[in-house]
Amino acid sequence: MTVRLAPSILSADFAHLARDIAAAEAGGADLIHVDVMDGHFVPNLTIGPPVVKAIKRVATRPLDVHLMVSNPDQYLKAYVEAGAAMLTVHAEVLPHLHRTIAAIKELGAQAGVALNPSTSLTAIEEVAGDLDFVLVMSVNPGFGGQSFIPRALDKVRAVRALLDRAGRGAFVEIDGGVDLSNIAAVVAAGVDVVVAGNAVFGHGDAAAATRALKAAAAGAAARG
Ligand code: DX5
Ligand code: ZN
Repeated sequence: MTVRLAPSILSADFAHLARDIAAAEAGGADLIHVDVMDGHFVPNLTIGPPVVKAIKRVATRPLDVHLMVSNPDQYLKAYVEAGAAMLTVHAEVLPHLHRTIAAIKELGAQAGVALNPSTSLTAIEEVAGDLDFVLVMSVNPGFGGQSFIPRALDKVRAVRALLDRAGRGAFVEIDGGVDLSNIAAVVAAGVDVVVAGNAVFGHGDAAAATRALKAAAAGAAARG
């Protein structure tokens, strides 16, 4: 499977989202990662459906919407209608995860479940066969630009094995602190979709940064 790169617009210039998204896409971005935070599940507030809808008008890549909110069930429809092609919810806030996953798929989006660094993958064992993907958090969610937590690599390997046993071809995404120094290790561990915020938008030239990350990921994938 080719590794896909999903630049996170959390680190983009919110006053120039269209420009920054276009730059990431020019560099080869495969998806656009959109971080939705509610100031409750995570200590930060970002964007809601109207902004996702506006992004959808300018982005040419599918929108990968990451819901870091306490009550995602209430908003699934609004985000899919706004343009989310992939919708990720957090296992930590969902006692009825099976129902939530079914609801996302029913709405026509790909369903993913995110695991915080302190959440065991037992949280998704019983629904592994229902998922389109799993998002492994490699930082505690809430902010861009944090340091990668190396233990996430073990979790990626364990999630990969769980999804292989489930046999549906679901993919693994990683989110948080990925940059040129660790993207090869991330890919070698079995990640299919790499989110990168600060590494793409933090240094001026988002197109060049995207290109460099994609090349590093492709090199690691080719080495197997
Ligand atoms: C963290 C977010 C991430 C974040 C990644 O709460 O879910 O998507 O934007 O940004 P970097 O790559 O800067 O860690
Ligand atoms: Zn995210």
